Amino acid sequence: MMETVNVAIVYYSATGTVHALARAAAEGAEKAGADVRLRKVAEPAPPEVIDTRPEWAEHVRDTADVPVATVDDLAWADAVLFGTPTRFGNPASPLRAFIEAAGPLWFQGKLADKVYSAFTASNTAHGGQESTILALANTFYHWGGIIVPPGYTDPIQFQSGNPYGASHVAGEGPVSEVALQSARHQARRVTETAAAFKTGRAA
Ligand SMILES: Cc1cc2nc3c(=O)[nH]c(=O)nc-3n(C[C@H](O)[C@H](O)[C@H](O)COP(=O)(O)O)c2cc1C
Repeated sequence: MMETVNVAIVYYSATGTVHALARAAAEGAEKAGADVRLRKVAEPAPPEVIDTRPEWAEHVRDTADVPVATVDDLAWADAVLFGTPTRFGNPASPLRAFIEAAGPLWFQGKLADKVYSAFTASNTAHGGQESTILALANTFYHWGGIIVPPGYTDPIQFQSGNPYGASHVAGEGPVSEVALQSARHQARRVTETAAAFKTGRAA
């Protein structure tokens, strides 16, 4: 019998794009049978900065009920999907701050042997989605993680065109159904891989 897996979806989103992908990933993982924790990382920006952009302030209000991620969520998880906007070709600093707070957990070896995957959004098609996801993968290597990208393992991936992770070009408009389906597929694949690994280890 397949083991039930714990999947944490840990994301940062200022204006909702990555949040929409994170929700789709949560749906995909749940449908694949996982216990899911959808968690935003703490917003470090002060209210007066957030209020300079109405869409940012609105998103903060709309997601007030999403629990803030803690390192315990990483310890709990068998698999973690990280979501972040591309910022100057890299993951956003609030997500990096969360990851760096996990140093003690890493030191205890508690981040190894988990499945990791990442998704992102950028404003332009060549604005750094791949570099952002690959930058997160650097950390997964340090943790001794099992990196599971979506690749071209489902027909939706030939439409999304991004084998590194689900992604959306925010400058082209609202999050597309293709990007959402890609996020669902990615999370399903992560869940199934983690379940097979966990089941194999328990045998
Ligand atoms: C400081 C900063 C840097 C950014 N750098 C990039 C970039 O390098 N490439 C790009 O295409 N978009 C860039 N963007 C746009 C964001 O990637 C885009 O707004 C984001 O993906 C939207 O996601 P969200 O709605 O979840 O916040 C940047 C935005 C900010 C605020």
